[in-house]
Amino acid sequence: MARLAVATTALCAHALAPTPLRTRRTTVKMTATVAPPSLEVGAQNLDWPNIGFEYRPTRSFVHYRYRDGEWDGGALEPAGLDATVPVSIGATALHYGQSLFEGLKAFACKDGSVRLFRPTANAARMARGAARTLMEAPDEALFVEACARVVRENLDYVPPYGSGGALYVRPLLYGAGPRIGLQPSDAYDFLVLATPVGDYYKGGLGKPVKACVVEEYDRAAPRGVGSVKLAGNYAPDLKPNTEAKQSGYPIGLYLDAGSRTYVEEFSTSNFVGICGETGKYVTPQSDAILPSITNDSLMKLAERSGMTTERRPVAFDEIAAGKFSEVAACGTAVVLTPVGSIARGGDEFQLQHHTEPGPTCLDLYTRLTDIQRGDAPDEDGWTHVVVPPS
Ligand code: PLP
Ligand code: COI
Repeated sequence: MARLAVATTALCAHALAPTPLRTRRTTVKMTATVAPPSLEVGAQNLDWPNIGFEYRPTRSFVHYRYRDGEWDGGALEPAGLDATVPVSIGATALHYGQSLFEGLKAFACKDGSVRLFRPTANAARMARGAARTLMEAPDEALFVEACARVVRENLDYVPPYGSGGALYVRPLLYGAGPRIGLQPSDAYDFLVLATPVGDYYKGGLGKPVKACVVEEYDRAAPRGVGSVKLAGNYAPDLKPNTEAKQSGYPIGLYLDAGSRTYVEEFSTSNFVGICGETGKYVTPQSDAILPSITNDSLMKLAERSGMTTERRPVAFDEIAAGKFSEVAACGTAVVLTPVGSIARGGDEFQLQHHTEPGPTCLDLYTRLTDIQRGDAPDEDGWTHVVVPPS
């Protein structure tokens, strides 16, 4: 069994004590998950409307370990700004990038409940990524319980109903055991941390962002790993992303690496084009794109309102020809952010709705967030109640 080098500090010594292996993976023991009774949604009194999207410390994160073929029951550990996890110097996560993450949100609802949005879809996506990278994934029950547990333990950090914010939940799975030859680890750590968030892009729905095509770099290779949420897909985007921002474009759009003809996706979100004339919702089809849970949800909502949805190759020329009256970026962090213009090679293609969100984006955004916040019926059973109505 791979051993971790443990460096304890006074703050977290209790939490880092080895957790005895008690249960098999399929019967993992769910430890007490009732929130401390004193915790109330929003009690941290942060400046909720202005929290933006950055890491803010909370009370605790949850840390499960897979050792000798079993997941342990997980431990709550302090999640202050100086929170650390002990990692073997030979960990496959560090050397070979054997690391996956997820992102989902918990919402405070009007009836006092707190709900996670589609956690089983995130569990399934992490499992797919784990299969591709030969990692041991938590099963659905463990994944969902870990997310619920971290929300309950940090209820006072959940932005209150009406503030526009959410508790962003970040599951992380990585190879924790040492290997020097290229092979998968036999030890895995699964962490779930949470942090309160607001708008990813300043202004949120109300302010369409300027996008530019990333010309010098590709995000994902054909037959590569663009469709899994591998940590290593994001490091190569740091440079293009930073350069785009420095040039005045908060969001970069990637094209297909093979022909550089088709739209793939934005750095951290899927591409949606709305064709006002035909009432179509169009999103790219490609094996190199991350299958967005938000996009899947929006497509279902669009279909329910009578729109035709198309998942198909989308040529950049369609944007240049003005085929879309609205373009938006969709994802957990960005929700549905309208794109006002897209720059490529000295040209700037302006969307019809470039100063305010277009009508379809506005409608879809409202219907999605109403379900997430419990203001509209959840016909598809997407929400998972973490704290029952009061
Ligand atoms: N595409 C990329 C590259 C992402 O990082 C994300 C964020 O998770 C998405 C799309 C949107 O996926 P989801 O809606 O599941 O958050
Ligand atoms: C998310 O939307 O949850 C993501 O994981 C994107 C992230 C890079 C902020």
